[in-house]
Amino acid sequence: MKKSPNAEPFVPEHGTLAVLRNAVQQCRGCDLYRDATQAVFGEAQAQSSKDRPSLMMVGEQPGDREDIEGRPFVGPAGKLLDKCLEEAGIPRSEVYITNAVKHFKWEPRGKRRLHKKPTPTEVRACRPWLDAEIEALDPKLIVCLGSTASQALLGSDFRVTRERGKPIERHGLPTVIATVHPSSILRARTDEDRHKEKANFIADLKKVPEYLEK
Ligand code: URA
Ligand code: SF4
Repeated sequence: MKKSPNAEPFVPEHGTLAVLRNAVQQCRGCDLYRDATQAVFGEAQAQSSKDRPSLMMVGEQPGDREDIEGRPFVGPAGKLLDKCLEEAGIPRSEVYITNAVKHFKWEPRGKRRLHKKPTPTEVRACRPWLDAEIEALDPKLIVCLGSTASQALLGSDFRVTRERGKPIERHGLPTVIATVHPSSILRARTDEDRHKEKANFIADLKKVPEYLEK
């Protein structure tokens, strides 16, 4: 029987974030590294003045821009996320941002590289990196952006639509709040839908500070 894909053999035990970020470039835990430019690891978006960020945000996987720049959430979805964080009053220095899957999965469409959703097997394969980031950062709160991140941490029967904005306690994890992915707001069909979805997203983000104070 073929062994299922798994990043575990590539993840240094109890590594610091710097050690992990180095090691992830050598990961061959699943096939996604083959067509990607580089792995995109998590990072604090701005230099924190004091401690490490106590809030972790998890997206799906790097997109085209992220794959080229080697940094998470620097493309269109990241720009929207930045704006919403600001409107929710969450300082950028409070956020460590990462993805459930560290390599960009795509298919060619003409000259463009079109985002392709990672399979549950690929998300599972990459989970040891996310676990290692959680251990190294030890955040007070994790915000999952969209269903891939939510299901990566909370299991495949988790539904963002039903549970968004509610604090979830699971053994071995800090408090988790799930909400939509900013790119779902960008895909809204009408301006009215987009405004509504953005407002709902910001409302979910506004619940964050209360969990960081505890
Ligand atoms: N979407 C994600 O989920 N992650 C990124 O890093 C960029 C876009
Ligand atoms: Fe490793 Fe994750 Fe990249 Fe797959 S997607 S090769 S498991 S880092």
